[in-house]
Amino acid sequence: MLDFAIFAVTFVIILVGAVLYLYPSSRSASGIPGLNPTEEKDGNLQDIANQGSLHEFLARLHGQFGPVASFWFGRRPVVSLGSVEQLRQHINPNRTTDSFETMLKSLLGYQSGMGGGATEALMRKRLYENAINNTLEKNFPLLLKLVEELVGKWQSFPEDQHTPLCAHLLGLAMKAVTQLALGDRFQKDSEVIRFRKNHEAIWSEIGKGYLDGSMDKSSSRKGHYERALTEMETVLMSVAEQRKGQRNHTAFVDTLLQSNLSDRQVMEDSMVFTLAGCVITANLCIWAVHFLSSSEDVQEKLHQELEDVLGSDPVSLDKIPQLRYCQQVLNETVRTAKLTPIAARLQENEGKVDRHIIPKETLVIYALGVVLEDADTWSRPYKFDPDRFMEDSARKSFSLLGFSGNQACPELRFAYTVATVLLSTVVRKLKLCKVKGQVVEARSELVSTPKDDTWITVARRS
Ligand SMILES: *[C@@H]1O[C@H](CO)[C@@H](O)[C@H](O)[C@H]1NC(C)=O
Ligand SMILES: *[C@@H]1O[C@H](CO)[C@@H](O)[C@H](O)[C@H]1NC(C)=O
Ligand SMILES: *[C@@H]1O[C@H](CO)[C@@H](O)[C@H](O)[C@H]1NC(C)=O
Ligand SMILES: *[C@@H]1O[C@H](CO)[C@@H](O)[C@H](O)[C@H]1NC(C)=O
Ligand SMILES: *[C@@H]1O[C@H](CO)[C@@H](O)[C@H](O)[C@H]1NC(C)=O
Repeated sequence: MLDFAIFAVTFVIILVGAVLYLYPSSRSASGIPGLNPTEEKDGNLQDIANQGSLHEFLARLHGQFGPVASFWFGRRPVVSLGSVEQLRQHINPNRTTDSFETMLKSLLGYQSGMGGGATEALMRKRLYENAINNTLEKNFPLLLKLVEELVGKWQSFPEDQHTPLCAHLLGLAMKAVTQLALGDRFQKDSEVIRFRKNHEAIWSEIGKGYLDGSMDKSSSRKGHYERALTEMETVLMSVAEQRKGQRNHTAFVDTLLQSNLSDRQVMEDSMVFTLAGCVITANLCIWAVHFLSSSEDVQEKLHQELEDVLGSDPVSLDKIPQLRYCQQVLNETVRTAKLTPIAARLQENEGKVDRHIIPKETLVIYALGVVLEDADTWSRPYKFDPDRFMEDSARKSFSLLGFSGNQACPELRFAYTVATVLLSTVVRKLKLCKVKGQVVEARSELVSTPKDDTWITVARRS
């Protein structure tokens, strides 16, 4: 619980840190309904800590003050938007950066590409997406092989064996992301293990935020983080150097190398993709398998679709769009798990939502986690029900929140492909069963993850 409280504060400060890094601060009050600062210096930070997480704090704030509400991060006023209608008024469909990438880059202290103009930002975004598309296309058989190895292992387990999802699926995500992003050097387990160690050290600080200054106060934490980051950067640069000299352009980094990005930019984009790609892919897979194991009906329906579309063939890239129910399952997984619960933007010019003026440079939070459980938008919001995506209105709301289209983070699209390969393989071979009496709680970091590992058992289909 204490951990959780500390996390809430640090997370908040990340967001402030992330945008302050890029923009000067503003002190103007907003006049929007909400909390007064309970403390001159800290604003509402203690209230957030008391609620257990920023997501829970926002849920309560919007419950009390409605869909447009304000509070204070330290001395800084913040406006939070907590329903689809108000987000619709605020979201600029022309924006090209996604807030996830922006947050991550500023947390890492990476600024290249942020200072450039809109055209350069757009070019880099296209290149990044293109690199993801290329690697998926060229390495699809490899992805299938990695998934089949894991499913083969599960098939060999006795039926009462408890399988730890986080451990296994993080392992799968690490192997898939490293080999697809960085090439065959990561076929070696020793390379993946080293990558995983550094990844964990970096994400354990960045995933919850270190800009609260607590890391700076602990020289051992700071040293651990900095060594991991430096080692990871060194590995990424040496990968780029090696791959420059060869003709095989199959990995994510190869596409970047064929462009005119600087060495530093190639390293930074590789860092962002491997860091975020692993966490988002692993957690999408973990939550999807977890929800399926608790819903036999959904599993049977998915099994039926897989048999109808694929028969006994392995899934292929061009068949994926036909797996509509599978996509509904993944959409509903992102929604129910609140996979990325918070996004933040800085108000670039004065704006208006309902009758409220949002002054220039105000920090605006999109309380995605609150919107995803809003009963006005989703009937029975806590139920895992992929059928809700049969409705056009559900798809539109979901898309508006930035889970598809040009606002979506490209790592999520990558994760959908990996998760589709996983589900289409595992669900045709095995029945996923939940372990009775297990309560799975989420920890709402930058990406929501189960607090403790979560377990399933599997039974062979025959
Ligand atoms: C988005 O771009 C279109 C076409 O360039 C323009 O007409 C529209 O006003 C822009 N919308 C916003 C909110 O900037
Ligand atoms: C990548 O692939 C997706 C889906 O196939 C497509 O919508 C998108 O336009 C592609 N992006 C680029 C930059 O080619
Ligand atoms: C290129 O790399 C892929 C994946 O690492 C590998 O399967 C393929 O054999 C390589 N091709 C050549 C010509 O080296
Ligand atoms: C190289 O980068 C510059 C901007 O830095 C851009 O204007 C130019 O079109 C790029 N050239 C190629 C071949 O991508
Ligand atoms: C899943 O959600 C996206 C919006 O993010 C939407 O475009 C897509 O149609 C949805 N898929 C299904 C099958 O409902």
